[in-house]
Amino acid sequence: MQIAPSFLSCDFSKLGEELGRMDKAGADLIHLDVMDGHFVPNITFGAPVIKWGRPYTKLPFDVHLMISEPHRYIKDFAEAGADIITIHVECDSDIAETLDLINSFGIKAALSVKPNTPASAVFPYLDKLYMVLVMTVEPGFGGQSFMADMLPKVGEIKRYAKSVGHDIVIEADGGINEETIAQCAAVGIDISVSGTGVFKAPDAKEAIAKLKALAE
Ligand code: DX5
Ligand code: ZN
Repeated sequence: MQIAPSFLSCDFSKLGEELGRMDKAGADLIHLDVMDGHFVPNITFGAPVIKWGRPYTKLPFDVHLMISEPHRYIKDFAEAGADIITIHVECDSDIAETLDLINSFGIKAALSVKPNTPASAVFPYLDKLYMVLVMTVEPGFGGQSFMADMLPKVGEIKRYAKSVGHDIVIEADGGINEETIAQCAAVGIDISVSGTGVFKAPDAKEAIAKLKALAE
């Protein structure tokens, strides 16, 4: 299992240092939560912040766009150094066109489903996708409780992808910590996002090692 610490829980006064700290702690990717105050009731940061952070780590940047019109900003996030860009299937942009746009920059495209959206919503777009992000909390804030009832979506997506001969990476996001990661591993999640579980732990290296061990 790969671990992607969510940058949302970092100390933003030390942005560069915090990224370096995750690098040394053994993170596999950095998850960056972009919120526009419209798609979700919270505002975080945009492409310039991601660009400032880019020189501080070689880890892949996994950019999670919780914004209403992602197609307007894909170029900015591509130029800022994103390696994976996730959009929400519930957003207002044309999904197929936006995924094509992400792929046109040579960036891995991903699609996310909120808790009330069925897994089948991503099926029509599978051939354009590197990854599906299953939300295990209502998007908008870090530090919420894990929704275990979202886990059956993982098997549904994996089974459907296999039936059409498409390999897909599954990421889960929200409330993943020492108490909940084993459940994620049990259903075959490939990447777990963890914000508070890693950034707020007294020792990030220990926290990541423990999450990985619990996922085995
Ligand atoms: C929620 C974000 C998550 C969040 C995870 O909208 O997408 O990435 O930061 O934080 P924790 O691990 O604290 O739930
Ligand atoms: Zn996220």
